[in-house]
Amino acid sequence: MSVQIDNNLVRVFDTTLRDGEQSPGATLSSAEKLEIARQLANLGVDIIEAGFPAASPDDLAAVQRIAHEVGTANGPVICGLARAREKDILTCWEGVKGAAKPRIHTFLGMSDIHLTHISGITRAEGLKIVRDGVSLARSLCEDVEFSPMDAGRADLQYLVEACAIAIEAGATTLNIPDTVGYVTPEEWGEFMSNLIAETPGGGPGSGVIWSVHCHNDLGLATANSLAGILAGARQVEVTINGIGERAGNTSLEEVVMAIHTRSKFYSLRTNINTREIMKTSRLVSNYTGMHVQPNKAIVGANAFAHEAGIHQDGMLKNATTFEIMTPETVGLTQSRLVLGKHSGRHALKVRLDELGYKVEGDALNQVFARFKDLADAKKTVTDADLEALIADEFHGPEEIFSLVDIQVTCGTMGMPTATAKMRKVSGEEEVVAAVGTGPVDACYRAVDLIVKAPNRLIEYSVHSVTEGIDALGEVTVRIAPNGEDKRSFGGYGADGDIIVASVKAYLAALNRMVAVLGMAGHKPEGQVSEVGIQPEAQ
Ligand code: KIV
Ligand code: ZN
Repeated sequence: MSVQIDNNLVRVFDTTLRDGEQSPGATLSSAEKLEIARQLANLGVDIIEAGFPAASPDDLAAVQRIAHEVGTANGPVICGLARAREKDILTCWEGVKGAAKPRIHTFLGMSDIHLTHISGITRAEGLKIVRDGVSLARSLCEDVEFSPMDAGRADLQYLVEACAIAIEAGATTLNIPDTVGYVTPEEWGEFMSNLIAETPGGGPGSGVIWSVHCHNDLGLATANSLAGILAGARQVEVTINGIGERAGNTSLEEVVMAIHTRSKFYSLRTNINTREIMKTSRLVSNYTGMHVQPNKAIVGANAFAHEAGIHQDGMLKNATTFEIMTPETVGLTQSRLVLGKHSGRHALKVRLDELGYKVEGDALNQVFARFKDLADAKKTVTDADLEALIADEFHGPEEIFSLVDIQVTCGTMGMPTATAKMRKVSGEEEVVAAVGTGPVDACYRAVDLIVKAPNRLIEYSVHSVTEGIDALGEVTVRIAPNGEDKRSFGGYGADGDIIVASVKAYLAALNRMVAVLGMAGHKPEGQVSEVGIQPEAQ
């Protein structure tokens, strides 16, 4: 039977919550994963890879929640990852089966390097695992994706055999990963064309979707993904801001905007609402604590800034002189209203609406109070300031510990000393004082006396949201629990006072760590249904 698929549509498979969350420091709580999943649905991604359910009970619980709450009939496909083993696949199904459109994504390393050194099996044994794994997945779920991991370093003829077996066993999507970011665009384009042409059962009319999944170790992930698309792939696996293992995955925003901006060249489309890109980028950056580099394509702070005189002159004459896409297309709007200390609640609400934030009732009062404080200190409040306030107020983790007051003395005389007053989730308040080598160190030591969650500070950075001495400061931090090398937690804070922003960022990271690890007398989150799994070493 011949199956019709829309061959001009490139399906966007977002793996921010699975491959992206594997980046060092990007650990997210399940509430944060849910909020990101909701925003990914607003952005218009076709498939959300919500997690790796067999990795931990928390992962399973987060996937189940996303499947139920975001995987509605009109929503995206909700996918879970599973090694090609019975227990992983069954657990994955437990994770995704509550979605209206569930998918099981199963994989096996298929380069000789992976077969030998990871699985310790022969090529023939690998093929049997593919058949058994995909057949089991297909017996549970109609939508099954198979990935031969490390395909970029695997033998083409062996992959042809593996993909043919996967199709025969019921795979509907074949995702070809360059797991270690090794290939080059020309090579990858040719490899994908040959694989698609030579795999029995995978040709036009078969209904099989070919997909590419590229890592960025040589900075070629976007170029390789686009080469795969030109060769016939109609699904691309990406993450927001390109986060992921090592140098990361292909950035969603780069591939989508290449297809959008160069539509005559590609003659393809995606279902992405490009105006939601900036908002999604900011949400992911705030929750993961992974700052976006200023010169990052599409979403970096400088992506639409023009500094050189000749460029500014050209832009003033005609924006197309130096701009290949407008900032508005990716959701960076230019304010027509100038907000300042005389602006009222209504003007603030209108601007927030225009920026895509529906803030009402108590939440609006909260933002309005912060806005007034800022407008008193600063003449005009820009969109960037408002975005930072929203992120600071609403994109933080659950407040197990919250800051009531902080005061610090520092300078050339005496030891920097901080006094902190904090509230615990029980409502109890505590005041402590501590000295440190600098004002931030003193504050963090004071916070530690109350939170009691031993950790190492592995990253701390301060940025100014806009120019000028009165600008709002944004701080991102990353901490790792003592005795653990693998996991770390990010935090974000914004305030006119960078010491206050620093404490907020540190507390956000601590709250995230306490919520996930259940330290300091708190139970970890993630209520898992009974499927009888034990976390296993990956
Ligand atoms: O990079 C990779 O190979 C993966 C697979 C699990 C698809 O992430
Ligand atoms: Zn990957």
